[in-house]
Parts: sequence; structure tokens; C-alpha cells
Amino acid sequence: MGEVVKLLVVGSGGREHAIAKKLLDSKEVSQVFVAPGNDGMTLDGLDLVDIGISEHSALIAFAKEHEVDWTFIGPDDALAAGIVDEFEAAGLKAFGPKKAAAELEWSKDFAKSIMKKYGVPTARYETFSDFEAAKAYIEKEGAPIVVKADGLALGKGVVVAMTVEEAVAAAHDMLLDNKFGDSGARVVIEEFLDGEEFSLFAFVNGDKFYIMPTAQDHKRAFDGDKGPNTGGMGAYAPVPHLAPSVVETSVETIIKPVLEGMIDEGRPYLGVLYAGLILTADGPKVIEFNSRFGDPETQIILPRLTSDFAQNITDILEQKTPNITWTDKGVTLGVVVASEGYPLAYEKGVRLPEKTTGDITTYYAGAKFAENGKDLLSNGGRVYMLVTTADDVATAQKIIYEKLKTQETTGLFYRSDIGSKAL
Ligand code: AMP
Ligand code: GLY
Repeated sequence: MGEVVKLLVVGSGGREHAIAKKLLDSKEVSQVFVAPGNDGMTLDGLDLVDIGISEHSALIAFAKEHEVDWTFIGPDDALAAGIVDEFEAAGLKAFGPKKAAAELEWSKDFAKSIMKKYGVPTARYETFSDFEAAKAYIEKEGAPIVVKADGLALGKGVVVAMTVEEAVAAAHDMLLDNKFGDSGARVVIEEFLDGEEFSLFAFVNGDKFYIMPTAQDHKRAFDGDKGPNTGGMGAYAPVPHLAPSVVETSVETIIKPVLEGMIDEGRPYLGVLYAGLILTADGPKVIEFNSRFGDPETQIILPRLTSDFAQNITDILEQKTPNITWTDKGVTLGVVVASEGYPLAYEKGVRLPEKTTGDITTYYAGAKFAENGKDLLSNGGRVYMLVTTADDVATAQKIIYEKLKTQETTGLFYRSDIGSKAL
């Protein structure tokens, strides 16, 4: 890296807050811009840029004008739209997979075909665009069975159906009623996998990869994994009850073959690879691949990074071997505070508690300054997240939940059991 390093992060959520904050902690980094970011990030010295994630040309122009060394792409939709290809065509460096490599996330059918071709363990499946054929397959396979819209549907295009009727109705919604728009024009119907879910992330450059600590998200809105699916209501890392052999098996049977497969396909992968896995009686299997960091997992993984984050990414972008190190002490746990009603309709404009100090970090997702330019107000579904590192899950839960009890959270809600599966 040069003398004065300036970086740009694209995205606006808690994930991007965690990425940008960690980059700013790096030794040689003097300034981190976030486009478009959210006002809460400014409390950590980050500089917001009023350009949306889909305005690629404006982002490129900004990066050139401000002599940004490189750009970290947060969200999947920007990657799926080919933002990295455009940055590179403009002579700029961007960290994230190109469009052809990001297809691992933006088409479930593509991801499934890669897994089939390279022998990566995943649920048995078939892809359909014809409703009658889908219905016949569901009736033949029986329930429980899983119906997924093929494209990006913001996590909402998945129905885990406990009965044949429910599965047929889901296929009807997607294929005939067009409920998920274009992303539901094809559906993947797959075998139901039973087991504990966990996430495995890696920094990747071609066939070289660097595994991060294991993490567990909580996707349902309410305690006890009840209620609708959300982007994620809380997470912790590492998952203490996962044996090291599970990670080794996941690396050998999943991460290695998929990355080698992507090279064989002429789509070498560079960026963060996120494997959503389920530990079945037959070993770890893939639920999905994402071509980016997870939200809220990033907020509990990156605080555990003990090496210089910006230097690590620079090294990967320059085809050097990064020196990536993690703490092995304790557990990092975070609880998301969301607007009441999320993931459905919710109100904005609730006044937020003071930013935490000391051992508890606040990451903002949907936060906006009031007119006085001082008070932060809620401005999204997921609003903020409190994160701490402690000796074990129970202690981390106690610290976070005691703090949350002292905060005024009227109009907001959070789960009170984040991490409880580890107890
Ligand atoms: P996805 O958007 O593919 O991550 O799916 C959302 C959620 O649906 C996952 O986090 C799982 O809880 C569940 N799910 C997806 N696929 C399966 C499957 N084959 N078997 C069981 N549960 C699944
Ligand atoms: N936490 C789930 C996701 O980022 O997709």
C-alpha cells in the first residue's frame, strides 16, 4: 500500500459498517468512504458518499477523482450486476467476484449444476420452469421438500414446505402467479436436509483460500426460530460445539472442489465466499453459496481478525499471500435490533439510544440523523446491532442483553435467544 491509503466500501448496512470500520483501523489507511452508507457510520469517522450501489459509473468516477486505492463491494446485487467487471474495465481494483463468478449466488440453478458436476455434497434437486412438471415432481418426492425461486429474491424466495400442498402452492406462486418476479421464472425443488446450520466464510483468490472462524446466524424473526425469515437477527463466532473435523471436512469436500471447479469453468473466484452449510447425519452439505460477506455475520467475524485487514485485502488483490490471523479467545456475539414489524411493514423515525462505548460495539444498518443533525433515528428494517467478545456464549449474551435492557427500544425489537443453541 502507498503512503496515504484511501479506500471505498460500497453498501449501506451493518455489514458495510463493520468492513469499513475494520479497514479504517488498519495502519496505513487514512480515509474510508462508504457509498451510500448510513449516518450511524459517521460516528466512527467514516465518510459517506451520496451514490447508490447501482450507480456504477458514478462510483467509478468518484474512486478516480478521490484516488481511492481500491474498493470493497458489500452487497450481492452490485456483484450480480457486474460492478467488479466495470471497475476493472476502468482500470480500478475492486474486491469481490466478477459477474460470472458471482453467479454462484445469483443463480441457484447454476450453483446446483456446479455442485453436481464437481461432486460437492448438497440436497438432491431438479429445476423447473413448467408448473405441471414441478407439481408432478413434488407429488412423486413427497414432503418435507424445499421450493426455491432461482434468482436473487432477498432471502424471501425459499419455502421449506412440510406438506405436498404447501410445496405445490409455493411452486404455483412462483411459476404461475409470478410472485417473485423474474427471479421466480424458474424454481429449484430440492430435498429437505435435517441438521444444524452454520456458515463458513473464506477470503478467496482462485484456488487459494483463507478460512474464517465458523459462524451461526439466526434467520427467523422471533425467539425459538419462529416467525418469518429475515436477513438475520443475530450471530456468533466461532460456533463452539462444531468439531474441528467438521470444518476440515467442509474444506475438503466443499470449498476446495467448488473453487477448483470455478477455475475449470473459466470463472476464477476472487472475493469472499460464503458457504451456508447444514451438518447432516451424512456430514456437511451446502444449502447455498453467497458471493459476499454475510450480514450480520461480518459484524461478529471481523472483530476477531488480528491481522491488518486493509493489508490483507491489498495482498490478495496484488496476487500476494496475505498474512491473515484470528484470535482464538472466547466468542464474539451480536444481537440485531430491528424495527417492529420487520421483515414486513415497519415505521421509521424512532429515536435511537446512544452509541455504546467500551467493550460493546454498535454497528448501524438503518440509521439517519434527525433534522438537528445530532440524534440518530431508525431508517430501515434492521436498525443496529450490539456486538461483544467474551469468554463464552453465556457471558457474551449476559453483557449484550444487560446493555439492551438499559436502552430505550420502544418501536424496535430483538431476539432474546441469540447464541442459545450453543448453551
Ligand atoms: P436459502 O435462501 O437458500 O439460504 O434458504 C433459506 C433458509 O431455508 C435456510 O437458511 C434454511 O433454513 C432453509 N433451507 C434452505 N434449503 C433447505 C434444505 N434443502 N433443507 C432444509 N432447509 C433448507
Ligand atoms: N445472514 C445471511 C446473509 O447475509 O445472507
